[in-house]
Amino acid sequence: MGDINAVGIVGSGIMGSGLAEVAAKAGYDVIVRSRTRAGADGVVGGLTKSLDKQVAKEKITTDERDAVLARVTATDHLGKLADCDLVIESVVEDLAVKKELFSELEQIVKPAGILATNTSTLPVVELAMATQRPDQVCGIHFFNPAPLMKLVEVIKPITASDDTIKSALAFVTTCGKDAVEVADRAGFVVNALLFPYLNNAVRMYEQGTASMDDIAGQLGRKTGRGFYQY
Ligand SMILES: NC(=O)c1ccc[n+]([C@@H]2O[C@H](COP(=O)([O-])OP(=O)(O)OC[C@H]3O[C@@H](n4cnc5c(N)ncnc54)[C@H](O)[C@@H]3O)[C@@H](O)[C@H]2O)c1
Repeated sequence: MGDINAVGIVGSGIMGSGLAEVAAKAGYDVIVRSRTRAGADGVVGGLTKSLDKQVAKEKITTDERDAVLARVTATDHLGKLADCDLVIESVVEDLAVKKELFSELEQIVKPAGILATNTSTLPVVELAMATQRPDQVCGIHFFNPAPLMKLVEVIKPITASDDTIKSALAFVTTCGKDAVEVADRAGFVVNALLFPYLNNAVRMYEQGTASMDDIAGQLGRKTGRGFYQY
């Protein structure tokens, strides 16, 4: 398995767009695939807007913005991802849709390519088993908004090779994120911790322990956001 240079992103929603920005800013060549031409154009438009804001705030220079944009291509053809070293799938959270997509990617992406999913909740092993290269399938779970959130869970299904996980961890680190390696269990680490916490908050409100505002405010301070996005 070689080094990662070209990264494919499948899905042009909130996470797909964020992942494209993260990978392109880290210096990777990025191809984003949307189902429609309009969706593909929308990713480039959204990225341009986001980078323009960063230029206005003097976080990046115009040269840096142009260099990032030059590294990003958007397409409505899955076939364009053939030469990617790593493809991260970030489409709708639906197991049947993702399994179908992995079996298509299996046919398209070069044999050495790693196939990853950004799923928050689905068993990664099920996606691995939809391919002929289960050793090269893993989870790379970014949080929302991907350009800002530091933590990334790298999920290792029992089928994944150590080399695959090593490459995924290296990719995440070069993106400037903090990677944690996690077994393929429901909720991984973060959501497995978070959901009982949220359920307890609901129970506290039901039991009249405190007002909704006070409980929600407390949750906001704990997560630093006022709300939490998985
Ligand atoms: N939103 C979050 O907070 C968050 C955080 C971490 C991970 N995730 C995960 O990221 C993935 C994408 O989530 P999102 O929030 O970007 O969703 P989104 O709704 O913003 O985008 C979903 C994308 O999937 C595409 N899509 C919808 N139906 C499809 C189909 N049948 N076939 C192929 N593509 C289809 C849409 O066109 C869109 O590009 C999910 O697996 C989700 O669990 C989401």
